[in-house]
Amino acid sequence: MVQTQCVPRRVLVMTRIGLVLLTAELAQPERAGALSYSKLAQSCRGRIGPANRVEHVEISDHRVLKYIGEFWTSKQRQAASISEISYRACFKPQLPRFFIELLTQKNDTVYDPFSGRGTTVIEAGLLGRSIIANDANPLSAILARPRFSPPDLARLETRLAALPFAKEFETEVDLSMFFHPQTLMEIISIRNYLKEQRKTGHEDDIDRWIRMVASNRLTGHSTGFFSVYTLPPNQAVSPESQIKINRRLQQQPEYRDTRKIILKKTLSLLRNLTEAQKRNLRIAGNSAIFLTKDAVDTAEISSESIQLTVTSPPFLDVVQYSNDNWLRCWFNTLDAGAISKQITISRNIEDWRKKMSSVFEELFRVTRPGGWVAFEVGEVRNGKINLDEYVVPLGLEAGFCCAGIVINQQTFTKTANIWGITNNKSGTNTNRIVLFCKN
Ligand SMILES: C[S@@+](CC[C@H](N)C(=O)[O-])C[C@H]1O[C@@H](n2cnc3c(N)ncnc32)[C@H](O)[C@@H]1O
Repeated sequence: MVQTQCVPRRVLVMTRIGLVLLTAELAQPERAGALSYSKLAQSCRGRIGPANRVEHVEISDHRVLKYIGEFWTSKQRQAASISEISYRACFKPQLPRFFIELLTQKNDTVYDPFSGRGTTVIEAGLLGRSIIANDANPLSAILARPRFSPPDLARLETRLAALPFAKEFETEVDLSMFFHPQTLMEIISIRNYLKEQRKTGHEDDIDRWIRMVASNRLTGHSTGFFSVYTLPPNQAVSPESQIKINRRLQQQPEYRDTRKIILKKTLSLLRNLTEAQKRNLRIAGNSAIFLTKDAVDTAEISSESIQLTVTSPPFLDVVQYSNDNWLRCWFNTLDAGAISKQITISRNIEDWRKKMSSVFEELFRVTRPGGWVAFEVGEVRNGKINLDEYVVPLGLEAGFCCAGIVINQQTFTKTANIWGITNNKSGTNTNRIVLFCKN
């Protein structure tokens, strides 16, 4: 039995970050586990509750420690409002924040190869780190990039007021079951304006902000969205289903003032952002790299340049990407069918393993010596598959050392049961993060 492939039997002290892994002790898991755990607990600054423990598990002949506890919660530390953009299978900002604070310093580069709405890179930017984001889905950069340039409200209001709203419109799809005719006219006008700005190279930060907020407000369940009551824009229903919903709820689309809604959501996104955080975001945005590539093929990222990756990959099971995103893609003139071909959809664990093996090779290339990867996976198929235990050998094969599996169990608040991830029934929400380092 070995502990990991490459962690030597010596004390590996990360004094800079407060995380101490007493690897010399790891062959005696109870004693060492308790000691390591207490150090990990210290680094959590008292955020550990009474129900925490360390276990170990044997994976591919390696003994791997599992740190189980409530390391971060939404209650204990309020997240920045700028993160409040809905995205399928996103994690909470507290998750990347925990690892960024633990494992990086100011100006280090933080990366997410499956960036989604940009939860990791926004947290990193807020904390004064440099950032690189990648996602095969171009909507990801549309949602993440503008938040590195929080707008001046007066400029935004002026731009919104000047939006050229047409009197008549033509559209290739019938959207009348979602929107009042006047609202639809405004949406199409905004869409055409943004399309033209982009085509002519005039799109600026304010335009990108408007695009981001409007993409987020297209459809939803309240008057804060452009549509009549329906599902959010990342799970858009088909026109046929919406007709049925309207019939069942005896509803028809009322007028929604798109300018007011965009402004209101902007105010909400900016509501608890300090001047220092805005400055940090702008600085990070100036050197940020946003890629729209397969995570296995990111030649734009220099070798050994990343201090920390915090990510959650696409999981098992089929997501009907083009069905879910057709409306947001329409608004942004993107081809949902073409995008869905770029998104990794693994039908079984073997396919998923092969893909993630290549991802780990690429992560090993871009990670600095002394750098880290925090790879989050959920409890897939009702906890029958522990993806974390599949992930450990993938990281080891790529050359990383496994520092353990961090399992955060927090009181369930509100998380969708999606992408095959199920919250367990006792009312807790579990994140499983496999932590690797590059020696
Ligand atoms: C679980 S989500 C990540 C969510 C993210 N952590 C957040 O908080 O928003 C997985 C992401 O991987 C992206 N993706 C799927 N296949 C990919 C691939 N081969 N390369 C890069 N990104 C991919 C999807 O578009 C999706 O945004």
